Amino acid sequence: MAGQNILITGASAGIGAALAKRYADKDKHLILLARNRQKLQAVANQCEAKQSTVEYHSVDVTDFSALQSLIASIDASTPIDLIICNAGVTSSIGENGEAESWEAICHVIDTNLYGVLASLNPLLSRMQQRKQGQIAIVSSLAAYRGMPITPAYCASKAALKSYAEALRGWLAEDNIQVNAICPGFVESDLSAKFKGDKPLMISAEKAADIIYRGLAKNRACISFPFPLNLGMWFLAILPAAISDWFMRLFSYGARR
Ligand SMILES: NC(=O)c1ccc[n+]([C@@H]2O[C@H](COP(=O)([O-])OP(=O)(O)OC[C@H]3O[C@@H](n4cnc5c(N)ncnc54)[C@H](OP(=O)(O)O)[C@@H]3O)[C@@H](O)[C@H]2O)c1
Repeated sequence: MAGQNILITGASAGIGAALAKRYADKDKHLILLARNRQKLQAVANQCEAKQSTVEYHSVDVTDFSALQSLIASIDASTPIDLIICNAGVTSSIGENGEAESWEAICHVIDTNLYGVLASLNPLLSRMQQRKQGQIAIVSSLAAYRGMPITPAYCASKAALKSYAEALRGWLAEDNIQVNAICPGFVESDLSAKFKGDKPLMISAEKAADIIYRGLAKNRACISFPFPLNLGMWFLAILPAAISDWFMRLFSYGARR
């Protein structure tokens, strides 16, 4: 079961906002993090209407020192039972196959990868001391097989999946549950920027419900929707020439 004090990063929109609303309940204290204070306030109001207590903080997850101080101070007063590291951004190559800019690459890696590592850094030893906690890391089905149109994004999500797997093995003895979350296409501002086909896309609310149920069961990897997850798994083990052909078929190839 998910705990009482639940921290969600990237809770102002999309999957994170839907997760906040899915967890909102009279037994839950929600701690919502993102940059946009107005959007956070709107999500907080909706969660409070479901009798949750809510606090929200405007923070940029790429401000690593501010983020770590904030999470350490929250955990000192409100021990976090479940953290969902969800904040993320994407980038893609240009219309004519131009490389991602260095700024775009750094923004993706700083937000998606270092933002998660910095979110967890103040918590790991605290959860170990408490012998209790759950850590959910939002990766992507893009972690299974790099898509040529979003190289930095895929690299960040593959790193997160690997990090979650490593933490799960390391922290099991401390009674800390760790889960990788690998969604396929989910309706959001982020997926709207994705230029390829989006087969089997689901709503953020549906995704939040799948994640909620998967975390309650402590599933190692919550990947969805079926059969896209199976397809991505196959792409990872097929010979490269065949998986490259499938990538082009769905317009995820580098050149059109
Ligand atoms: N949508 C999909 O199809 C899909 C598929 C697989 C995985 N995912 C993953 O799911 C997660 C959520 O994505 P989404 O689709 O819900 O996207 P979204 O609607 O664009 O929401 C992204 C969230 O991340 C926050 N965020 C972005 N940069 C941040 C920063 N520097 N500091 C703090 N918060 C930041 C945003 O809040 P502010 O702008 O207010 O800061 C927002 O709350 C991401 O990790 C994404 O990679 C999405």
